[in-house]
Formats: sequence, C-alpha cells, structure tokens
Amino acid sequence: MTNISGKIKELVKTAKKEVAVGDLERLEKLRVKFLGRKSELTKILKSLKDLSVEEKKKIGPVANEARIKINELIETKKEELLAEIDRQKNWIDVTAPGKKKYLGKLNLISQVQREIEEIFTKMGFEIADGPEIEDEWHNFSALNVPKDHPARDMQDTFWLESGNSQDEAEHNERKTFLPRTHTSNAQIRYMETHQPPFKIIVPGRCFRNEASDSTHEHTFHQFEALVVGDDISVANFKDIAQKFFAKFFGIEDLKVRLRPSYFPFTEPSFEFDISCTVCGGDGCKACKGGGWLEIGGAGMVNQRVFEASGYSKDKYQGFAWGFGLERLAMMKYQVDDIRLFADGDLRFVRQF
Ligand code: DAH
Repeated sequence: MTNISGKIKELVKTAKKEVAVGDLERLEKLRVKFLGRKSELTKILKSLKDLSVEEKKKIGPVANEARIKINELIETKKEELLAEIDRQKNWIDVTAPGKKKYLGKLNLISQVQREIEEIFTKMGFEIADGPEIEDEWHNFSALNVPKDHPARDMQDTFWLESGNSQDEAEHNERKTFLPRTHTSNAQIRYMETHQPPFKIIVPGRCFRNEASDSTHEHTFHQFEALVVGDDISVANFKDIAQKFFAKFFGIEDLKVRLRPSYFPFTEPSFEFDISCTVCGGDGCKACKGGGWLEIGGAGMVNQRVFEASGYSKDKYQGFAWGFGLERLAMMKYQVDDIRLFADGDLRFVRQF
C-alpha cells in the first residue's frame, strides 16, 4: 500500500507545481482536477472502504492531509491573485498618452466686451451699468418714445405680466416691466444720478420678441455710449468713434461716415458706417461691393431726453450711440451666424 501513499504525495507535489502559475480561472479548473468528484484523490478516498482496517488507519490520514494541503495551496494562491487584481486597479500607467484637459474660457462676447471696455477706459470713459429688467418709463417714455407712438413698433418687446395692466386708468408706466429692448435705458438711469460733464459706455444684454436667424437673436448685447457736456458736438462724436474703431479693428486709417436717420431719442439722428475692414473701401464680398459696413444708430441727444432725466432744457449737449456687440464680434472674428454665440457648442467657444 505504500504505493498509494507515494501516489498521494506525488499528487500533492504536482498540485503544488501547477497551482503556482496561472490566473483565477485556471485555479478553479485545478481545484476540480485535484479535489473534484472525479479527481485521483477522491477516487483514493472512496477506495479506502475496500482496504483492511490497518491500511485504512495508515492511508486514511495521509489522504485527508493531502486534501487539506491541496485546498490550502489553492486558497493561498487565490488570495494572492485577488490582491494582485486589487493592486492593478490602483495602478497608474505613466506611459499612457495624456488626455487633454480644457480650461474654462470666456465666451467671445465677453472677450469682445472686455476689449471694448479697455479701449474706452483708456480714453477716459467710465463703464456704467443699467438694469436688464426695466420699467416702461426708462426703456421708452423717458427716451421720447411715448405709448401709442409709431416709434414703439421699432422694437418688438417682451412685456412682463407683472404690473402690465391693460386698463388705461390703472396703467402705470413706472410699474410696467419688460426685459429691456436696448441699453438706452441706462442713459436715463445714469443721468438721474449724475451731472455733466461725463462720458460713459454701457455694455449689456438686451431682449427682443423676434424670430432668430443668422443675424438676429431674441437675446443679444449692445454697448451704449453717452457723452454729455456744455459743448459736445457731432465732430466730437465722429472723432471718438473713429479712434475707437481704428483701435478695435487695428486699422489706423479707418474711415467713418454718417447717414441721416431717425431715432426718437436723438436729434439729429444718424446711421453710422465704417470703411470696410476687409477691403479698406475698394469693394469686396464683405461690404457687398459698397466699401462701407453699417455699424448702428447714433445721434445728438434729444433735449427732451435731458428734460426727462431732470436736466434743464438747452443747458447741455451730448451724443449717444447704441451699437450691437455681436455684430462687432462677428466682423472682427469672422463669425457668420449670431446664434453660435449662445448655443453652447464648446468647439465654437474654444476657437477664440
Ligand atoms: N437704442 C437703439 C436701438 O436699439 C440704438 C440707438 C440709436 C442708441 C441711436 C442710441 C442712439 O443711443 O443715439 O435700436
């Protein structure tokens, strides 16, 4: 029977060798191979009953010990493998290619707003502010745009329900609110609390109830300018505007042009153009051959606006403009659709 004992020892030896290498899957196969129902060892254990009592006493313990030993070998190896898997989970491959991390960026509109603010600050202007939710008085009436005047239709308005009574007798234009349709409201707000002389710009968000397309958005930005003093003239306006646009576009000999227009808050009123920033005025696709680019509305402040702000009539003179920030950003950075600014596509934001 010693050959049975020898066989058992041999089995343990083989198991020790085989268990030493491989992964969890192989280990489970080895468990079946060495300890399973059809394994050598199980067969030996089953055959014990056919042996003599003496032999049983000898071989029984050897076989049982072998079973325990092999089981131990497998369990120890399993623990090792599991520990290794755990270690690999926390392992950093320093040779792996890096993933690009993007820092947050300012939207192009904010960047352009800062560029503009910097240029005007250097020219001695103050940067002022006004509310985005405004009352009817400051957005319209004080700017010489009374209710039922056709000029009201120049700007499609989102009216807020709050205070917006349809009943004529109850109507109070200082308690009827709207998201401002332009930054011109800030003219009144500023003049109510400041005395001339002053020069300010007011960049800010505006809102209009209109369908969007590549050049129109319901939410957009303007920057208002207001310069008031004893003897401010159209010449001052042209000079300051020329200096600003020359700096903004980096074109020293940039030309400016005024065309007559109408705004209730200015008299006289102008449409303001600059020489084409692409061709310099010779005519190209960007200026549709004309050599000029339209910038926006401007004019000499209407005395009625001064009066509405609490100044005496004919005491001061000033000029004002309200230009679209998106339009300037689109011209300078060649953006062909205004909707790109706010649609949240990071590929657009990251370009600038
Ligand atoms: N508020 C006008 C608009 O949004 C633009 C404008 C025109 C502003 C002439 C002005 C101005 O200050 O003088 O259409």
